[in-house]
Parts: sequence; structure tokens; C-alpha cells
Amino acid sequence: MNLTNTPEWQALLGHKARLQTQHLRDLFADDVQRFQHFSLELDGLLVDYSKQRIDTAALNDLIQLARHSEVESWRDRMFAGEKINFSENRAVLHTALRHTDFTPFPSVEHDVMPEVHAVRKQMRDIVERVRSGLWRGFKGDAIQNIVNIGIGGSDLGPKLATRALSALQHPGLNFYYVSNLDSAHLAPLLEKLDPHTTLFIVASKTFTTQETSINAHTARTWLMAAAMEEWAIAKHFIAVTSNPSKAQEFGIPEANILQIWDWVGGRYSLWSAVGLSVALAIGMRGFERLLEGAETMDTHFRNAPLDKNLPVLLALMSIWNTNFLGAETTAVLPYNESMRHLPGFLQQLEMESNGKTVGRDGAPLSCRANPIVWGEIGVNGQHAFFQLLHQGGWLIPCDFVVAASSDYPLPGHQAPLLANCLAQSSALAFGKTEQQARIELAAAGLQEAEIAKLLPHKVFAGNQPSTTILMTSLDPFQLGMLLALYEHKVFVQGVVWGLNSFDQWGVELGKQLANSLLPALNGDQAYDAQLDDSTRGLISYFRRYGNN
Ligand code: F6P
Repeated sequence: MNLTNTPEWQALLGHKARLQTQHLRDLFADDVQRFQHFSLELDGLLVDYSKQRIDTAALNDLIQLARHSEVESWRDRMFAGEKINFSENRAVLHTALRHTDFTPFPSVEHDVMPEVHAVRKQMRDIVERVRSGLWRGFKGDAIQNIVNIGIGGSDLGPKLATRALSALQHPGLNFYYVSNLDSAHLAPLLEKLDPHTTLFIVASKTFTTQETSINAHTARTWLMAAAMEEWAIAKHFIAVTSNPSKAQEFGIPEANILQIWDWVGGRYSLWSAVGLSVALAIGMRGFERLLEGAETMDTHFRNAPLDKNLPVLLALMSIWNTNFLGAETTAVLPYNESMRHLPGFLQQLEMESNGKTVGRDGAPLSCRANPIVWGEIGVNGQHAFFQLLHQGGWLIPCDFVVAASSDYPLPGHQAPLLANCLAQSSALAFGKTEQQARIELAAAGLQEAEIAKLLPHKVFAGNQPSTTILMTSLDPFQLGMLLALYEHKVFVQGVVWGLNSFDQWGVELGKQLANSLLPALNGDQAYDAQLDDSTRGLISYFRRYGNN
């Protein structure tokens, strides 16, 4: 399908011509109730998209574009368990993991819920035993440290959620996430941990991921150095995987293996047993609240009309900014310290899902798909890269994400935090005109010559679009809603762009090459002649200075 030839796309090009020359200042002046018209609240999660460079006419045509792309029927096909991930012949059913009532899902004929409940029961049992101190290490000690070894979706989601909800964390447990192959990630941790009180969760859907496998083997060797006996592995290792036989080969007993299924994508797996560390941190009830929040967003996504549908609206704003206003990147700016891993999580969710140029039909896409996602804690960014957002001349749409009440309240912090967040989105939107800057400089007592010299530096172009997501608080329910909101946003974008959001073939080539280069790095010169000149040069440098 050539999206750009559709009447809806053509109509949007007309809106682009009109809106490209309009400033957000004008859009706000034209509609005194703009916030009311361009914001939506769902169960405590407020999404304000009034600072997007959009008006009702353009939004209506964006909705038509979504309709033309059959977002509703693709959504229903996903929830019905159809194998919409056609290139891997898989259904996409992470929503089953937050289907909390005891009815069949996705259908009576193909009900996955019995398996989901069985694993949930296993999780609950582990969570209760570890949190209560009943789970004992090889010498009878209670567990104090949980180390999640995983990467990508087996790391980013649980790491984000554990940190985001750390205020609710069990006081006697410490949580660590190890993903990097670089031993500098695992080694300092092992130096400070006690093997008697440490429990490793090896989270890997495939159980073949090199980084996770090497880290897990090193952790096992470390444990064995203290325990000496193989049976100790059962006391200190849990696996979460869809490949149980590989986990058993590693030495983890069946009772410690929690199953995930091929219909859960890695980057959508937080809601499965991959979230075990989160459940250990905040308890099973807290984890269920996370699921309930996500389910609330699922229900909203399934039932709300497109023009009142939060994931649809967020997706359309991004499509508008990327494909019509020409943005190439987008920034995620969480203001809560506890949300510090949100940008990393969204980078995988968005770019691994939609970082593609080929459509479902195998033909090149007629337009660009996902922008580059990046971000940082908002206040830190203010003192680093915000200068470029304000005066760098790039169009960079931003998502401001913040909770109204603090998860770690200290007097005098929260209002200034919110003030900064709101000030930045406002400054980015409205900027400062030459006239405003001139008045300010004159009021400060500057003479005309000095004003003329400084004036160009004091002007802010503004018109930088943003969405603000304001949660009442950073609790499991709202976090669940927020993350499911982004998941479905990514889904809608993928449908409109006409691609498969659920495969990730682009990550394979590098993995293959890494495996084939390993012998050369280990000193085998047999294949040197076949290497490209740059790689050969770098490898010979490593042979001189590297250690294995
Ligand atoms: O290499 C990309 C990827 O496959 C991600 O999609 C996935 O989340 C990550 O690797 C980890 O994979 P696994 O859970 O199988 O170890």
C-alpha cells in the first residue's frame, strides 16, 4: 500500500502547508479552551497534547488516516490472537498477561489463560517464599540480593518498573540488573555480594542470548566456588524462558523454570514472569496492580472511539510530527528520578518495533517510519542539552512525563520539580519574541547599542511541540497504564506505517558477525584475509593490547 497516495495523506499535506507557518502562540490564541479540547484523562493519567502543532481539522484527517489504515481491525486481530507477527508466524498476546478476570482469552477455542495462571501461581509461590524469608540459600540463609541477568526486553522493562516503584520495595531485599557483557558490570557486583544470600534470575526468552549466557555462567561459577555442590544451583538460580530445556542444560531444575511463550515479544514481556524481580520487589499484589493498570489501558484502547483513544492520539501526534512536520528525533523527558529508565525502555519498544523501512507486503515504505528516540531525566537535561531544544533550530518533539505527587516526599521539592517541567514545555512551545526580549533588556537598564548586540541571542523561536503526561502518582496501577499506553501507541504507528512491529530481523546480522569474529579475536589468524580492512586493523590492535 502506498500510504502517501491516499486521499487522507494528501489532505494532511494541505494541513501541513497551513500549520507549518502557524505558531503555537496563534493556535492557543485562536482557541481559548485549547487545553480542554486537546487533553484527555483516564483513571488518573492525564495526557495534554494541546502543545502539539495540530488543530481540529488536521486531527480529524489524522483520525481518517488511522481509519483508512484499518487500525481498528488490526487491533481486533491482535486481541483475537491472530498470528499478526507473520514473519515469525506468531500471535501477539502480551495483553493476555494482564487479562485479570478468569474468563478465556483470547477465545474459548484458543484459551492461553490456564498456562498464564499456572505460571502466575509459580511466581506467587516464589515471591511469597523469598519475601517472607522461607526461601533459603545453600547454607540456610534468607535471600537478601536479587540479581536479574538479562538484556533487551529481559532487562529494560523489569529494571524500569523496579526502579520506578522502588518506594514500595521490600526493605530487606536489594535488586540488581546485569545486562552488559563487559565484566565491569558483573564483577564489582560479585565482589560485594554474598553467595549465601544471593538469588539470580536468568531472564532470557530464547536462553541463547550470548550476553546473558556468559553472565549467567560466570555467576554460576562464582556460586560454585562457595557452594561446591551442584544442588546449590536450585537454591540460587531461577530461569524465565520459553526454552526450558536450555535452562535445564544450564543446571536449573524444572521447578525453578518459569515459562514464557512465543506469543510474548521480548520487549512486551514485563507482564510475564520476566517481571518476577518486580513482583519480588513490590509483592504479588503490587505486581497485579501493575497488570490491572495495563489492562485498564487495553480496555480503553479496545473500546474508546479513535478520536478519544489515548494510544491512537499519541501515535497520530508522532506520525504528524515525523511525516508532516519533518521531525527526525523525539525526546522522552521523565521528571521523576524513579522513572530514569523510561527513555531506555522506550528506545527498545519504539525503535526495535518500528525501526524499519519495509512494509508488511515486502515493499519499501512510502514514508519514513519511527523517529530516533532518546531522552534523559528532564531536570538533568535542562542543564545539558535543552539549550539545543530551545535555540538549536531542530524540530524535536518531546514527551514530558511526571507524577503530581512524589514517591519520596521531602518538603520543598515537588512543586519546584513540577514548576521546572511545566516551565520547559511552555518555554519550548511559546518561546520569547524579539519584542518581549527587547522589553526585558530595556527594563534591565540596557542601552540601545547593547540591546541590539544581545537581542538575537535572547530570542527563543518556540513552536517546539510536546505532550505532557501527568500521573497523579507513581504507583503500580498508573505505571501499568503508562507503559501499556506506549505499547499500543507503537502498535498503532506500525499499523499506519504498514509494517510488522513485532519482529526484529535487523538485530541478527551483528549477532552473527560477532560469533564469526570471536575466533579471530582469540588469536586465530586463519580468516584474517577474509576480513574487511578496518575490522582486521582493529582486531590486530586488540591482539596487541586486549585481554580475554
Ligand atoms: O537482540 C534483540 C533481542 O532479541 C530483543 O528483542 C530481546 O528483548 C533481547 O534480544 C533479549 O532476548 P532474550 O530474552 O531471548 O535473551
